[in-house]
Amino acid sequence: MKVFVGQPLVEPSTTDLLAGHTVVTGGGNLPRSEWPLLADADALLPTPRELVTEDVLAAAPRLALVASHSVGVDHIDLEACRRRGIRVTNTPDVLTEATADLAWTLILAVARRIREGEALARSGAWDGWKPRELLGVSLAGRTLGIYGMGRIGRAVARRGEAFGMRVVAFDSDQHEEDFEEFLSKVDVLSIHVPLTDATRGRFGKREFLRMKEGAILVNTARGPIVDESALVAALSSKHLFGAGLDVHAKEPAIHPGLFAFPNVVLLPHLGSATFETRLAMARLACEEIARFARGEPPLHPVL
Ligand code: DGY
Repeated sequence: MKVFVGQPLVEPSTTDLLAGHTVVTGGGNLPRSEWPLLADADALLPTPRELVTEDVLAAAPRLALVASHSVGVDHIDLEACRRRGIRVTNTPDVLTEATADLAWTLILAVARRIREGEALARSGAWDGWKPRELLGVSLAGRTLGIYGMGRIGRAVARRGEAFGMRVVAFDSDQHEEDFEEFLSKVDVLSIHVPLTDATRGRFGKREFLRMKEGAILVNTARGPIVDESALVAALSSKHLFGAGLDVHAKEPAIHPGLFAFPNVVLLPHLGSATFETRLAMARLACEEIARFARGEPPLHPVL
């Protein structure tokens, strides 16, 4: 089989699991200049950075499998894949703990004003301990709201309990009235739903106003779930204490309005970025392709 891999992966993954197949690796982002390489590809292994659009699929007429190096599949036109009879797989489970750790990294960084403290320590301007310096928010006894109680949401909740937080959750099978109540209860809100038509723009002006004054928002799911302009407004009015964002609506661009806030921690989509996790993701995606080539059923079918 010919396999097109969107960008270089952590190895060993392609080198052993796809040995015997022809592997062509792109430079990332799947620019038009790489599309001719898809003409005879049987399988595509994209990361969230490679958009698998109708046009990309049209450039890959032999394609039978899209094995994504991600749990989220919003970068793939699933309807177009379905129409063309292309199978799609993803990489759940292996990134759960790493992503939950990163969500907590953001919660703690915002609550304890780590950016400002770090900047002060490095500035040379710090002149000693002060009772009122850079006061953050205590988490024990506060309420952690998990929006989306899937694998990652549950892992973030478990960590919340260890920090002495009360955990409340909102899931897709709950009523809209419960959402309002959920929002009004939380001191820290962490987002863990996939990006779908239902979740796009889910957190906007109305939702931020529903949240308590002084609440913290953390997003390690997908950027477009949050209306970033509304978030900038909620931060400007000081309604929110701060925000931690690993994902952004128009990656790799980051909303320019967010840069001004010292109480906003911005990361470049690092949720799953540990060596072990990225290796496991790469190996799982390659394994799906190897299984497909052997005629075996997928481990994690999306389509
Ligand atoms: C995913 O797998 O969907 C993540 O966003 C990438 O780590």
